[in-house]
Amino acid sequence: MDYLRDHELHDKKVLLRVDLNTPIQDSIVTNDERIIRCLPTIRHIVENKGKLTILSHLGRPKENGVFQSEFSLQPVAHRLEELLGQEVDLVADIENCKSPDSGQITMLENVRFLEGEKTNDPVLSKAFANMCDIFVMDAFATSHRAHASTTGVISYANQACAGMLLEEEVNALSKINRNERRPSVAVLGGSKISTKLNLINSLSDKMDFVILGGGIANTCLAAKGVNVGSSLHEEDMLKEALELANKDNVILPNKVVVSNSIKGKAKIIDVESVRPDEAIFDIAPESFNSIESIFIQAKAIFWNGPVGLFEEPQFREGTASVARMIVASEAYSVGGGGDTIAAAKEIGLLEEMDYMSTAGGAFLEYIEGRSLPALEALKAKALESANN
Ligand code: 3PG
Repeated sequence: MDYLRDHELHDKKVLLRVDLNTPIQDSIVTNDERIIRCLPTIRHIVENKGKLTILSHLGRPKENGVFQSEFSLQPVAHRLEELLGQEVDLVADIENCKSPDSGQITMLENVRFLEGEKTNDPVLSKAFANMCDIFVMDAFATSHRAHASTTGVISYANQACAGMLLEEEVNALSKINRNERRPSVAVLGGSKISTKLNLINSLSDKMDFVILGGGIANTCLAAKGVNVGSSLHEEDMLKEALELANKDNVILPNKVVVSNSIKGKAKIIDVESVRPDEAIFDIAPESFNSIESIFIQAKAIFWNGPVGLFEEPQFREGTASVARMIVASEAYSVGGGGDTIAAAKEIGLLEEMDYMSTAGGAFLEYIEGRSLPALEALKAKALESANN
């Protein structure tokens, strides 16, 4: 792959694809993490006097060439201006999106308003390529989408390279994928085993220990014949869950926090004692006593998903205990996914993790070992440039 830092940018037309798909309420960005994380790339281009045009998507609007105000990047451009202390000129349509002067910033409206974006249309891909001397792909969080602004444009651009955030994400996540730091541990929570089956299988095949929580663990417990009462679990996934639960390196909770309802009285019990009217809402911290040494000895830890209903204070302690053990360990720790970031933030340990990915779907696919179209396109482009 080619990297931004190796390119001369002075007076060059630079087209930068970032992922500024951020939550917005009443025209205000409510979580600016993704904007903050792409600031180093933006500042590098501006300081090196590139003529910068920014591309991003926001949400999933109708791709019909029509502006839809609820998906406008206006609030994002505004927050970016505040963070940079510099004007960001938001342009409504691609025909009028001309490169700014050196060191200035233009942003095109949501690329998903454009016909051909999601179908990776060559006409749109070429139109993007014609806007620049160099295309910079920094949207790791959208690199699993073969869209015109993430993938198609790369083959048509004069030059294409990875931005600083994409480089950082791939470096951190590839350390987990290479699994050279042993023993390695994966902590996987979340509600549905069906959406994470490939990820869990891939991690349980390569990592030394896989600790399961949340609805995922409930489904594995049910598959093993444990009565999980009215706990969240997936009846139609019991066969797959049993295969997983029977692996030697997969660890399920032995003590859990149950209640009759989300707001009901919570109590800690052995996992075998759940009554039909009770539901498991969290792993009890006592459950981790016997496996604390796994965290102490670990050299790499991967974390995705809360192990309980952490949004409710009475069911937060399981996730908080896991997070504390991860950051107390000397292991290289990597986490990611919206819920995981929210949980780590709530618990106050977000900054203590060695790396937190900004991506959701792309992060999971990368860790599963799948190839991501935008990264493949960048590699092919680098090879093509090296051969010319
Ligand atoms: C994300 O939030 O995971 C990325 O921005 C990708 O969004 P998408 O799932 O709508 O393609």
